[in-house]
Amino acid sequence: MTILALETSCDETAVAILRGTELLASEVASQTQHEAYGGVVPEVASRSHLVHAPRLLECALADAGVALDEIDAFAATSGPGLASSLMIGASIAKGLAVGAGKPYLAVNHLEGHLLSPFFGTDEIERNVSLVVSGGHTLLVEVRGVNDYRVLGRTVDDAAGEAFDKVAKLLGLGYPGGPEIEQRAPDGNAARFDFPRSMLDSGDHNFSFSGLKTAVRYRLAEFKIDERAPQLVNDLSASFQRAVVEVLVKKTVRAAKECGVNLVTVSGGVSCNDALRKEMTLRCDRAGLQLRVAPPRLCTDNAAMIAFAAALRFRAGNCSEVTVEIDPNLALV
Ligand code: KG4
Ligand code: ZN
Repeated sequence: MTILALETSCDETAVAILRGTELLASEVASQTQHEAYGGVVPEVASRSHLVHAPRLLECALADAGVALDEIDAFAATSGPGLASSLMIGASIAKGLAVGAGKPYLAVNHLEGHLLSPFFGTDEIERNVSLVVSGGHTLLVEVRGVNDYRVLGRTVDDAAGEAFDKVAKLLGLGYPGGPEIEQRAPDGNAARFDFPRSMLDSGDHNFSFSGLKTAVRYRLAEFKIDERAPQLVNDLSASFQRAVVEVLVKKTVRAAKECGVNLVTVSGGVSCNDALRKEMTLRCDRAGLQLRVAPPRLCTDNAAMIAFAAALRFRAGNCSEVTVEIDPNLALV
């Protein structure tokens, strides 16, 4: 069973080929031209997908040593994401499926992320899943493929968005997560006592916009010429600690409440080493097992879409080619 998948939900163009549980090829082209605009420009992104997708498709087939007529099904992310970006990957996958007379699978981007910790296996164990990316922060009870219960989500900014916005405030590059992570080890995480928003809200929701504002206010207390690298390092460390503490404590609490013994973590922010370490420590203490997506599958990629598609295909869950993309596609 060989699946070719495309992921074009935002500003990464990605193509992957999966055979059984073996990843034969995974190509990702990141768009850097948006940095100049301070955010992703939808039309620039979709034009760029149109340039990169056919090229990556050829590379993926060559890398995998697979001919197009050996592909058993074609998949693409159908939402959530930018409409004009989603359309490119979905149109290509649908065209290939129709042309080859093979099935098409529309995959939810969030499902791609939340199943990614199981990549390479063929059984999804019951778990509480933290999906932390640039666009989403979600806690989900996963009972199996296509059997999800959303426990909580961010009420404002996503965790990755907070990393990106705080990095921008600190004059660092984009994406902000790796920039902040790189500076945090040289900073004093105890110097600034940033808010742990909604830590004790009694539900499973998150909020990160107040934290971002708190960083802005603390930064404004220093004159421009006082903003030495040490200040940036200390703000980075203190901010990162606040985000990590809330994510970890609320995830462990949700897992206990749901009575599961496995926690999974996925999405771009799960590349963060401080988050991975703290989650490992807290899960250990709570007697919970932990599965974190491998780093190459944390940020947007098509391998996770191919994996989710393979599980759906196995369950007989193919899509009609008439299925529309949906920028606001919900997980359930
Ligand atoms: O999953 P992803 O590639 O795209 C979305 O679906 O949104 O996540 C991108 C996000 C960005 O906000 C980026 O700053 C964040 O993941 N990120 C990180 C790290 N690497 C990427 N955040 C914290 N630490 C990192 N090492
Ligand atoms: Zn993503």
